[in-house]
Amino acid sequence: MWPLIGRDRELARIREVLAAGASGAVIGGAVGVGKTRLARQVLDDAASAGAFVVQARATRSSVGIPLGAFGAYVPAGVQPASDAGYVQAVIAALREQAGDREIMLGVDDAQLLDPVSATLLLHVAEHAIGSVIATIRAGERCPDAVTELWKDAGCALLELQVLADAQLVELIETVLGGPLQHDARRCIVKRSHGNVLYAQQLVAQRSRPTRSCAATVSGNSLDSRRRATRCAN
Ligand SMILES: Nc1ncnc2c1ncn2[C@@H]1O[C@H](COP(=O)(O)OP(=O)(O)O)[C@@H](O)[C@H]1O
Ligand SMILES: [Mg+2]
Repeated sequence: MWPLIGRDRELARIREVLAAGASGAVIGGAVGVGKTRLARQVLDDAASAGAFVVQARATRSSVGIPLGAFGAYVPAGVQPASDAGYVQAVIAALREQAGDREIMLGVDDAQLLDPVSATLLLHVAEHAIGSVIATIRAGERCPDAVTELWKDAGCALLELQVLADAQLVELIETVLGGPLQHDARRCIVKRSHGNVLYAQQLVAQRSRPTRSCAATVSGNSLDSRRRATRCAN
């Protein structure tokens, strides 16, 4: 995993809203902008500070399965008669595992949550059972219970923007372990539009230089002589 770069302000903002009593934070934004990475940092920091952290992920395949995202937390042998009973059973199990620790519930791609899992997430936020850190993809429809997180349940909504050019370059140079050649820098900045995922793909294509930006490294620095490359567009 790449080190987190250029998100100090967003991390500080999330810490600030949580400290001020928000029930959580919902991080929205385009695919590849860095939502999952930022949320992961918040969850890791909380775990390091002693919280009991649950990391769940909603997917297209789990969307049709009641409690699909939290199935692992349904206690064995428990068979409640209703969806509400399942939500209560999972919350009781989480509380038991957490003991004295604060609970932080992370859900990646919450727009894909099945309705029962979405209800569980909302319940956790509304009843101050724990903090919620959710990511949602911009432009996709969310279950009502997820939308309610920031509309009614006290979560802050953070719309994550692309990285600034300087931060994107800092990130790539950190990963490559050396400075980018001027042309490569310009090319990556231009083609990725600050989107980390796109930049990452451009760097990964470095062995196919005619199809991507010049991001080859030799030792710790860009080898511009052997692998001179060009912007494809
Ligand atoms: N600020 C950042 N610093 C370091 N790596 C990042 C950063 N933002 C995103 N990444 C990396 O870029 C890739 C795409 O980010 P990701 O968080 O998965 O995007 P999203 O969830 O918005 O689609 C991942 O490999 C992630 O680790
Ligand atoms: Mg993601």
